[in-house]
Amino acid sequence: MKDIFDECQLGDLKLNSRIVRTGTWETETEEGGFLSPAVYDKYERIAGSGTGLIISEMFVLDRKDRFAPYSANLNYLGFVKEYKMVTDICHNHDVPILGQLAFFYYDDGDNQKAEPNDLTSEGIRKLQAEVIMAAKKFSFAGFDGIQIDMGNNFYLARFINPYFNQRQDNYGGSTENRVRIASEIIKVIKKTMPGFHVSIRINPWDVRKDGMTAEESIRVAKELEKAGADSIQLTARTISYLYDGKEKNPFLVYADELIGSLDIPVILGGSLRDMKSMNDVLNHSEVEFMSMSKPFVAQADFLADWKANGEGESICQSCNNCYSKKTSTCFKYGVNTD
Ligand SMILES: Cc1cc2nc3c(=O)[nH]c(=O)nc-3n(C[C@H](O)[C@H](O)[C@H](O)COP(=O)(O)O)c2cc1C
Repeated sequence: MKDIFDECQLGDLKLNSRIVRTGTWETETEEGGFLSPAVYDKYERIAGSGTGLIISEMFVLDRKDRFAPYSANLNYLGFVKEYKMVTDICHNHDVPILGQLAFFYYDDGDNQKAEPNDLTSEGIRKLQAEVIMAAKKFSFAGFDGIQIDMGNNFYLARFINPYFNQRQDNYGGSTENRVRIASEIIKVIKKTMPGFHVSIRINPWDVRKDGMTAEESIRVAKELEKAGADSIQLTARTISYLYDGKEKNPFLVYADELIGSLDIPVILGGSLRDMKSMNDVLNHSEVEFMSMSKPFVAQADFLADWKANGEGESICQSCNNCYSKKTSTCFKYGVNTD
C-alpha cells in the first residue's frame, strides 16, 4: 500500500513524503524586493511539517513581466544571500527545494513582447542563456534544482504548442522542433551542473483547436526526458484528480498513460484536499507524487496534523481568493499561526 507519507526518491532527490508544495507566489517581500520575516516563517512551517519537496514561488526573467509585481525577482540585490537562508531552512529539515522560473512575455532586445513566432535565432539564444543563468543563480543560492514552467499559458507553453508556434525553422513544426528550445537548455544545464535537478511543468492538454492534445503532450514529455529532464509536473486550470471508487477521471487515465510512457517521475496536483482520497489515488493509479498549493496558503503546517492523526482534510475552501488577490494569504484564515 502506498501512503502520502512514504519516504521515496524523485530522481536523485530523497523525499520524506510524496507531497510536493508546488509553486505559490509570496507577495510578502519588503521594499526593494527583500524578503519579509513572514516568508522565512512560512518556509520553516512548510518544511518542518512533513513536506517531501518544495517548489519555490515563480521567479520571472523581467521586471515588466505579467506576474512580476506578485512574485520574486531573481535579479534583486539580496537574492543569493536571502534565498540561501530559505534553502538552508528547507535543508535543515532534509527537504529539497527547486527554484521555479516562469515568464509570460519575452523581451528579445528589439521587442519587449516577442511572441514565439517573432523570436529571431539570436533571441532564442538570448532566452536560452538567460534560463541557464537563472539555473546557475538558483544553485548559488542553494536550490537543489530548477523547475522551468512550460505550463498554463506561459511563454514556453505557447512556444511548444502547435496552435501558437508556426515557425518555419528548426524551432517549429515537429514536436522535436517545438521542444528544441527547451531541450537545448536542459542539455546544457545537465552537462554543466551535474546533480542539479531539472523539472518541467507542462499542461496535459488545452481546449484550443489545433492546440495541445493529450497525445502531443506525452510526445512533448518524452522529448524533455530524452534531453535529460529529471521530472515532469502537470498543471491545468481547473482539475480534480479525486478517485471516486468507480471510474477514473480523465486526468488519471491520462496520468497513468504518461507515467507508463516515461522513466522519469511525474507529479500530479490540483484540488487535492484530504488524505484519504489522496491515498486512494495513490493506490488506484500509477501516481507516486502529488502536489498542493492552496492548502499550504490556508495553513502552512497542516501536514503535521495529518501525519500525527493518520488522516486529515485541509481547511482550504478553494475559494481562490488567494489567487485573485495575488497574495499568498488566505481570505478566510489570514496568516494562520496555529
Ligand atoms: C496564491 C497562488 C499563487 C500561485 N503561484 C504559482 C506560482 O508561483 N507558480 C506556479 O507554477 N503556480 C502557481 N500557482 C498555481 C498552483 O501551483 C497550483 O497549480 C494551483 O493552485 C492548483 O493546485 P491547488 O488546488 O492545490 O491549489 C499559484 C496558485 C495560487 C492559489
